[in-house]
Amino acid sequence: MEVFARRRRLLAEKAKGGAVILVSHPEYIRNNDVHHSYRQDTNLFYLTGWEEPDSILVFRPGRTPETVMFVRPKDVERETWDGFRYGPAGCAQEFKIDKTYLIEEFDKEIAELLKPVDRLYYRFNIDQEFDRKFLGVLESVKRSHGRSGRGHLPVLDSWELVGELRVIKTADDVEAMRKACGITARAHVDVMKATKPGKTERQLLGVFLGSIYNQNADREGYGSIVASGANACTLHYVFNDQVCRDGDLLLIDAGAEARYYTGDITRTYPVNGKFTAAQRKVYDRVLEVQKDLVTMTKPGLAFKTLQETTIERLTDAMIDLGLIKVKRQEAIERMLFKKYYPHGVSHYLGMDVHDTGLYQTLGENMVSRNLEPGVAFTIEPGLYIPWDDKDAPEELRGIGVRIEDDVVVTATGCENLTSEAPKEVSELEAIIGRG
Ligand code: GLY
Ligand code: MN
Ligand code: MN
Repeated sequence: MEVFARRRRLLAEKAKGGAVILVSHPEYIRNNDVHHSYRQDTNLFYLTGWEEPDSILVFRPGRTPETVMFVRPKDVERETWDGFRYGPAGCAQEFKIDKTYLIEEFDKEIAELLKPVDRLYYRFNIDQEFDRKFLGVLESVKRSHGRSGRGHLPVLDSWELVGELRVIKTADDVEAMRKACGITARAHVDVMKATKPGKTERQLLGVFLGSIYNQNADREGYGSIVASGANACTLHYVFNDQVCRDGDLLLIDAGAEARYYTGDITRTYPVNGKFTAAQRKVYDRVLEVQKDLVTMTKPGLAFKTLQETTIERLTDAMIDLGLIKVKRQEAIERMLFKKYYPHGVSHYLGMDVHDTGLYQTLGENMVSRNLEPGVAFTIEPGLYIPWDDKDAPEELRGIGVRIEDDVVVTATGCENLTSEAPKEVSELEAIIGRG
């Protein structure tokens, strides 16, 4: 539990005088009386380690009690069906929480807890039912101040507050990320070994899932994308239900989550183990850009430089491949590259696949943030040529390539957390289908 207490200490410095309210993630019905599997709100887990639904954290730095939680009661009958619950006493003892209440006591206790604070941190629009309750809380806190002229407490965004802590990974965080990224990389290798013509995307997804669970992952970090042939051009392809055909590429974007940290790797390779000349033309360009971006990554680089470089380099590739017929500058000004490269090259990575943290620094002028040690993110350029694109040379139509690694910035450069997953052509061709 020390790691959670340490994080709360860091948060206390930023939120002194205020109170942070974090609500557990809602449970969602899958069908009838079956729920989707539950995963705690990331910020609530980050600060407490608590995994039960129907819970609220009220954190009041410097006050007594400082850490307050509202949780579900013990319930022998429900526990027979759904499993163990800590209850308020277990929560206080096992999670080192100063004061715990039953969740149904929230309405009665909250105004008193918030009466002394000068601002609140809360994220709207996660749970709209709770948003309504929160507005009521603001009103009752105001009333508790009487006619003092203080009005409603100001409300700031709890995600930006906690996100700024999460964006710089500690040594513990990086160790956890190495684990999640290592599991992910080895699972990608298992899929490579199992890939051959006639396998279905679903069967390969099964190989990935089997591998991550065998390695003690908790779950996928996001919905896996297993896209053969032109399906790779659908960026968030979800069906994963086609047969992988001889002569097609396979794009697989999948990550393992372990102790709430996730990997996020994409690899693209030929189903039959041998790239065609046309596939190589696209793959080599994406690989070259991807490797150069990893090499460029070091403290002080503006985050947006990665995207600008990617746009320039991939636009050059589009011109060389005959996809775009104007010069680089015009193609960029008119955003023609977006037809073949529509997404960003990077996002923060950590406990959420698209992790929290600001990309711009606030000030008179918004400027892109500079990289610093401990910041972790993906590097994922791609080129996608729609199968029905009449502007593209016929041999390139339906080819989609993305190559994605996860890196953490170090004092002098970066550590590639996913280097165990091969991406060189010779490495891939030596391993595909050799399971
Ligand atoms: N897997 C989602 C992404 O790469 O952003
Ligand atoms: Mn990604
Ligand atoms: Mn990805």
